[in-house]
Amino acid sequence: MGTAIRPLGARAGMAQKGDRNGFPSPARGAKETRAQTLTPPLSPPRGARGQDLETPIVFEALNAQPPDSLLGLIKAYNSDGRTGKIDLGVGVYRDAHGNTPVLKAVKAAERILLDTQDTKKYLGPEGDAGFSAGLQPIIFGDAHPLAGRIAALQTPGGTGALRLGAELIRAANADAAVRVGTPTWPNHTPIFAAAGLKIVAHRFADLATQAVDFEAVRQGLASASPGDVVLLHGCCHNPTGVDFSRAQWKEIAETLKARKLIPFVDLAYQGLGDGLEEDARATRLVLETVDEALVAYSCDKNFGLYRDRVGALYVVARDSGETAKVMSNLAALARVAWSMPPDHGAAVVRIILERPDLVAMWREELDVMRARINGNRAALAAADPALAFIRDQRGLFSNLAMTKPQAVALRDRHAIYCADSGRINLAGMQPADAGAIVAALKAEGCL
Ligand code: LMR
Repeated sequence: MGTAIRPLGARAGMAQKGDRNGFPSPARGAKETRAQTLTPPLSPPRGARGQDLETPIVFEALNAQPPDSLLGLIKAYNSDGRTGKIDLGVGVYRDAHGNTPVLKAVKAAERILLDTQDTKKYLGPEGDAGFSAGLQPIIFGDAHPLAGRIAALQTPGGTGALRLGAELIRAANADAAVRVGTPTWPNHTPIFAAAGLKIVAHRFADLATQAVDFEAVRQGLASASPGDVVLLHGCCHNPTGVDFSRAQWKEIAETLKARKLIPFVDLAYQGLGDGLEEDARATRLVLETVDEALVAYSCDKNFGLYRDRVGALYVVARDSGETAKVMSNLAALARVAWSMPPDHGAAVVRIILERPDLVAMWREELDVMRARINGNRAALAAADPALAFIRDQRGLFSNLAMTKPQAVALRDRHAIYCADSGRINLAGMQPADAGAIVAALKAEGCL
């Protein structure tokens, strides 16, 4: 009585007879398997929400997610067959031929890597320590006063650095809110939210005037609580191209110090605004002022290593004891996120930075990219007085004031691709495109 039929969810006897890896042993006999397969359970166990625990379908609970708005533009542009299409969408540099070539310095370093790398052994969660150390003088300066206070770790792109920094903040102070000036890179807020942090937004820039709304920034910082984190774009603000003035940075740095707020600087475009040194000045000013800070760094743009995902997280702590503790936490957090970062791109950057000839080659190529971007800015600014502000902005982007339907119309009717927010990537155009862009903006009522 009642011995032959067991509910499928209650195979306690079988579970004890596992193989050496703990998997259930194969059925003791075909008979039992058949009985289990063919005979419905007497009374299926039910979960807390009443669902049938036998039903293996869990993914039906998911909601479909829209594709990422920026990355979706890559596909849409590539599948557009119209001639004369212009890609002002995702933040990728294009040369005078419309290509995004691998930098010569990168190719040279890749050849060296191919010839000299004799093992692919694990490096550990910190990744290539020579890479993150090699970047430090470029970011913090040759004689930076932070020696012994910087924990550094290679990450999968700047996104990995932002996420790891967010996890560190959450581990240190789960109550911290992240203060974000808007508009900002559309992935910023989701990254911090995914780490479980609260986000409080304030206005950073006014698209109508194309200027920093410094009063709103002041108020945002004034309402922050000690320990809150303030997200700052180190240079080449994404999406607006509008950066704080030196005086505004100074005031921000002093406010951060006075109110015990933690800056989290996102530095993803160093060298593409005014120059490597110039683009690091604001970050250095902040770091010289405060006791604790985070810097998410990306080599995707300034080394053209986009798909290789090359980034680093630098955390400045109060003293060397705390730095060691931070480093151990970063390693532990990286271990459970991606274990170890991918090596190739970071090794390439390290090799470039180790060799003066390759550093010179890279700097020259960076100078060419920057000059071209600023040349495109000048061309678009000259094409219509209403776009004059673009000349004074820096980096890849400018955010024109337009509605989503206007951005869609630019794509559909004029084959000009920009983000739905009105962000344009100046590095994607040719100076000769300026007239067509202005004409399309006028036709769609954006100017
Ligand atoms: C961009 O803002 O277009 C780039 O940073 C690419 C990205 O990942 O969004």
